[in-house]
Amino acid sequence: MARLGSALIIVDETHGFKFFDDRDLIGFVDGTENPTGQPCLDAVLIGEEDPDFAGASYVIVQKYLHDLKAWNDVPIEQQENIIGRKKLSDIELLDSVKPSYAHNALTSINDENGNQLDIVRDNMPFGEVGKGEYGTYFIGYARSPSRTERMLDNMFVGDPPGNYDRLLDFSTAITGSLFFCPTITFLDSVTAEGTPPSALDTTSSEQSNTAPSPSPNSDGSLNIGPLKHEA
Ligand code: HEM
Repeated sequence: MARLGSALIIVDETHGFKFFDDRDLIGFVDGTENPTGQPCLDAVLIGEEDPDFAGASYVIVQKYLHDLKAWNDVPIEQQENIIGRKKLSDIELLDSVKPSYAHNALTSINDENGNQLDIVRDNMPFGEVGKGEYGTYFIGYARSPSRTERMLDNMFVGDPPGNYDRLLDFSTAITGSLFFCPTITFLDSVTAEGTPPSALDTTSSEQSNTAPSPSPNSDGSLNIGPLKHEA
């Protein structure tokens, strides 16, 4: 905040916390399959596919509210089918017993050569006892937003369509947004007039001075709800 100062306009603020064992409020360990080390950097940082913005990233965030009463009424074994992992031990279900609608089945995606396309999640539980509101703030970084959008398609539409993520029977996304995360070097080069060409790779004469519009949808929307929750 000190660095960005008045350049930011706060439209929504949610205070998350770390819960024991890195679990979220539905009781499962969250973040286990995140890549680490170099594979983590490879998953999140834009590379040579877009040299003007190399080193930057995209983050998709969604604020999910859980119906914990309904979730806690679901037998543990069925909760484990929905997530695709054992609840207490965090061990992944074997492919032979894991349902195709399991959360970790629908969010595991590959490229055309069969290589897994990872994102890095930094989900935070949040809650307010007084309001009776409990949720997960989904925060997913990727070198291309299309990865996360494919996962969202699989979760919401289903893979194949109709085989959707049963977690969504208990969790509702009330906000959602895609942000471009420029590098500090890029931000330092921005002036009131815009980004000087020197801040960009000058190999292309057709380059634009603004961040690219990363969404495949023409209106730039993910179609996953408004940014601000209407009370
Ligand atoms: C209510 C919101 C969500 C909750 C509570 C949740 C929770 C979890 C949990 C418990 C796991 C298993 C442990 C782990 O590997 O981290 C998991 C895995 C995962 N989730 Fe979510 N998640 C949510 C939303 C999302 C969304 C919106 C996406 C992407 C668009 C996503 C992508 C993933 C991926 C990629 C994995 C790892 C899959 C693998 O095993 O390779 N999650 N999530």
